[in-house]
Amino acid sequence: MAGQIPQDFIDDLLARVDVVDVIDQRVTLRKSGSNYSACCPFHNEKTPSFSVSQTKQFYHCFGCGVSGNAIRFLMEYDGMHFVDAIESLADSVGMEVPRNAQASQARDNAKPLYTLMESIAAFYQSQLKDSPAAIDYLKARGLSGEIAKRFAIGYIPDGWDTLQQHFPNEDPAMIKTGMLIKPDGGKRPYQRFRNRIMFPIRDSRGRVIGFGGRVMDNQEPKYLNSPETPLFHKGSELYGLYEARKSAQDNGSIIVVEGYMDVVALAQHGIDNAVATLGTAANSQHSQILFKTVPTVIFCFDGDRAGRAAAWRALQATLPCLQDGRDAHFLFLPDGEDPDSVVKATGAAGFNDLMSGRIPIIDFLYQHLSSDLDMKSIGGKAHLSEKAKPLLATIPAGVYKQLAMRRLESLIGLSMGSEKKEHAAPKAPVRMQRDESGLTPMSRAVLLCLQHPSVAHQLQAQEREISPLLPGADVLLKLIEYCNSDTSISTARLLERFSQSDKHPYLVKLATKQYWPDSRELNEETAIREFLHCIQRLQERSKKTLTEKVELSARQGLLGIVRR
Ligand code: UTP
Ligand code: MN
Repeated sequence: MAGQIPQDFIDDLLARVDVVDVIDQRVTLRKSGSNYSACCPFHNEKTPSFSVSQTKQFYHCFGCGVSGNAIRFLMEYDGMHFVDAIESLADSVGMEVPRNAQASQARDNAKPLYTLMESIAAFYQSQLKDSPAAIDYLKARGLSGEIAKRFAIGYIPDGWDTLQQHFPNEDPAMIKTGMLIKPDGGKRPYQRFRNRIMFPIRDSRGRVIGFGGRVMDNQEPKYLNSPETPLFHKGSELYGLYEARKSAQDNGSIIVVEGYMDVVALAQHGIDNAVATLGTAANSQHSQILFKTVPTVIFCFDGDRAGRAAAWRALQATLPCLQDGRDAHFLFLPDGEDPDSVVKATGAAGFNDLMSGRIPIIDFLYQHLSSDLDMKSIGGKAHLSEKAKPLLATIPAGVYKQLAMRRLESLIGLSMGSEKKEHAAPKAPVRMQRDESGLTPMSRAVLLCLQHPSVAHQLQAQEREISPLLPGADVLLKLIEYCNSDTSISTARLLERFSQSDKHPYLVKLATKQYWPDSRELNEETAIREFLHCIQRLQERSKKTLTEKVELSARQGLLGIVRR
């Protein structure tokens, strides 16, 4: 997706928006020194360690380490996708995101559909107020008016054309969004949902994209959902995510349940961080969305066979997301119970009690695989190892993976060399000395360029002669070029230009690192002096590298002659 929006546009956009405004609209910032600060919105804290720099156009939390530019903030805080974040920022400063004709056509076509869906949701809410039967049903299910309002729950009376009467001239749009069904043979369209409690489904930006409608008695189908439409893709949406985000981020975790009513009933009991898939098993798209929002995901399933099967699919979808720092758990409820019935009977405390019996994803993995094996026999152990390996292979390299592999070793009582394999890292070709803060002159120079782009303005052409053989030289030279091509460039814009590079995480680290180990401020003047000093060291090192190379090739040449 990122590739569809030109890098130049992203750069212009970041030059136009102000990260301080963007963040201040969501988290109240206080001026502190040359920066702004607040309690970090991404972890729980009492004293502010979240800092926003206007000059760098960058935020950073000294507590939990999050950092980024305005785009990143919207992605992390509002849970937006990259393209959505760009669009929202562009809207806020009146810029038009360039896209190919087809894409902009699709966007233009979609805009009125979102507006219509919002109006329909509001209409359903107003209808609920006039329907004592529907209100009684919700009350009987234990929901308060406040919760019904938070989830914008509504009602559509019985009948074929309530919507058409209320929204005249909108038939084509209502057909497109699946709200009306158009029968074959030129008959009049009729409304899909009739006499149902209506649950609006929102996307990550809070826009209504579809509905789930429940009957109030035992008729079938119990739930009717919007079909696939230009706005609604059932397989990649999570009910309640928009409403749950804030609480999920505060908690650091999200609970994934199976039904609309489970989400709403948990919220009714103060458990606000639950979402539901829309009648499908959790898939890898879901897992990716969830881990973009929180580091820990808890899947909650019915303990019966169907629940276990769905849980296994969720496990497979989740293993590839388990980078270090992330975790997943599985909670199996007693047979015949769902989160709604549990909180209704035993309250939040009862549900939390059950929660403490959740099992880590890796435990579930081995439990499931060994359930029909005799783990006392050699054959059983060998079989487990065979079955586990392809699954373990899908976990990203890291400590998590190593621990999962070590668990297998202890289960089968055999070492498979999990430690060595994961540790081996390629050796750096040319070593540079590190100072007391662990930084090489190259890292220092890169850090200074990123944090104080003006340092690069001081360089003369001949001073840029740094050997490309030095590790990191390519990045430094590019940075110097960027800083000089636009003298007002900010840290945020510099970083964004490397967003597609595998060096990006390393650059982010340097952009947020204190230059002095004792956290003294680094002023412009000192930054320039330090930078020139680093460059000097790098040039000396370049000369040395060159001499070494010449010597080496001379020696190789000699060897060649001797051999011949
Ligand atoms: P459940 O049957 O577990 O529903 O289906 P529930 O959420 O517990 O509902 P209540 O408590 O009886 O009101 C779980 C989910 O499966 C989808 C819906 O998304 C539902 O929330 N589903 C279920 C359908 O799409 N259609 C159906 O007919 C049934
Ligand atoms: Mn239920």
